Amino acid sequence: MKIMVITSSPNKEGLTESCGAAAKKGIEEGNGEAVMVRLNDLNILSCQACDQGWGTCLQEDKCKLNDDFEKIHQLTGEVDGFVVVTPVYWWDMSESAKTFFDRLRRCESSFDPNKTNKIQNKPFICVAAAGGTGNGTISCLSNMEKLFLHLNKLDYKNITNFDYIGVTQRNRSYMLDAVQASALRMVKGE
Ligand SMILES: Cc1cc2nc3c(=O)[nH]c(=O)nc-3n(C[C@H](O)[C@H](O)[C@H](O)COP(=O)(O)O)c2cc1C
Repeated sequence: MKIMVITSSPNKEGLTESCGAAAKKGIEEGNGEAVMVRLNDLNILSCQACDQGWGTCLQEDKCKLNDDFEKIHQLTGEVDGFVVVTPVYWWDMSESAKTFFDRLRRCESSFDPNKTNKIQNKPFICVAAAGGTGNGTISCLSNMEKLFLHLNKLDYKNITNFDYIGVTQRNRSYMLDAVQASALRMVKGE
């Protein structure tokens, strides 16, 4: 099983990266392959809301902007599941996560039943990495839940959400183990 681990913090040695590393450990422990994507290392522009806001992406299933987005977008079709880790910024996902997922949602939200969706029906783990207070961890995870619901064409009965995990600077000593365990179970299909 190939799992894409997406991290989205500017901090190369912070909690977000530790969560990504824990997920990788769990995936490899289950003999899976971790495809690591660090959004802040990539050049991903903001959505331009083409075509009066409707976008050409919905019809064409791809974005016409010329940057690193399409490479990762196409890669999402080649993996079997996702672990997405964001730092909690102002009770929400980071800018790099929002920018990437704004565009992914546009490309992968078509309701046309004849169109294949690269994300739909694949399991995903959402991880919010917060500060000491943990304020906003829940609302950040809630926004991630809404995002994946859209990426699953609002098919809430069949959405394959696997886990939602809030990690804070205070609980990291045991929650990193939870991220690893969750990724391991996802790979093993438990
Ligand atoms: C702009 C900004 C906003 C933040 N907002 C929150 C917040 O709403 N709640 C919280 O618990 N921590 C907040 N934090 C703290 C980060 O979530 C925390 O430092 C986390 O570890 C960041 O991830 P990193 O270690 O990968 O950098 C904020 C940090 C920054 C820089």
